[in-house]
Amino acid sequence: MMNEIIELKNVFFSAQEGNIIDDVSIEFMASKTTAIVGPSGGGKSTVLKLAAGLLVPDQGEVFYKDRNIAYMNRSENMEFRREGAFVFQDSALWANQTLFQILELPLKIHYPEMSNKQRGERIKSVTELVGYRKNLNIRPAGLSMGEQKLIAFARAMLCSPSLLFLDEWTESLDETAADRLVDIVRRKQREQTTILFVSHDLRLIMDLADFVVVIIDGKLQASAPKDQIITDLLLKDFLKIGIVS
Ligand SMILES: Nc1ncnc2c1ncn2[C@@H]1O[C@H](COP(=O)(O)OP(=O)(O)OP(=O)(O)O)[C@@H](O)[C@H]1O
Ligand SMILES: [Mg+2]
Repeated sequence: MMNEIIELKNVFFSAQEGNIIDDVSIEFMASKTTAIVGPSGGGKSTVLKLAAGLLVPDQGEVFYKDRNIAYMNRSENMEFRREGAFVFQDSALWANQTLFQILELPLKIHYPEMSNKQRGERIKSVTELVGYRKNLNIRPAGLSMGEQKLIAFARAMLCSPSLLFLDEWTESLDETAADRLVDIVRRKQREQTTILFVSHDLRLIMDLADFVVVIIDGKLQASAPKDQIITDLLLKDFLKIGIVS
């Protein structure tokens, strides 16, 4: 049986210009992979951040395992933060910290009992996993956009998440680096990880998604199993309006 793990219920999110997210209700299934697709500026990143509890809706509710995330107590919130990991579209690495410091922080927060040596080993293993082999004592400004993505992905792997939020996570990566991350995602899928990802890449969507959610102009246009949505007819429409390429 399939259970929803994250649920958005009549969610609105607005800025001065008006509604960015307009009455969106979605259920994300546990241990499944959902691709969020749609045109640029349509609200995909905002939906992903609302689902991860990083943005708070102006109206409506977001539930994680049937708990309203707005009312989680501190320990529930910490558990949610440890279980879930986010790769931001712009990587969101701290400009004034070294890569090592950036990677050290989640471990210090979630595993305070870890020794320096254990932290160093964990950091080494996640950076090797994503294929980053250069210096960890430099700051993000010294990295290419693709390398920043790798570090952002490595950071997301640090605490062995059971819930992954990935925003345009292969953008600016060459094919070899992107394939490496795809392999990691496949392994996470075999481990029953719940994955929500945003992408324009049809190949990724076809290869990885169980479900597809379409967001256009801040509204939910469709939400269904991939095979129902990626029909020949709809695919033509998607390609025409540039949702995928
Ligand atoms: N904090 C904010 N304040 C004002 N406007 C915002 C804010 N966050 C997002 N927006 C606007 O909301 C709209 C949706 O943004 P969002 O980043 O969610 O789109 P997206 O679908 O992820 O686009 P892209 O494919 O380009 O990444 C955009 O028009 C954006 O400018
Ligand atoms: Mg975006």
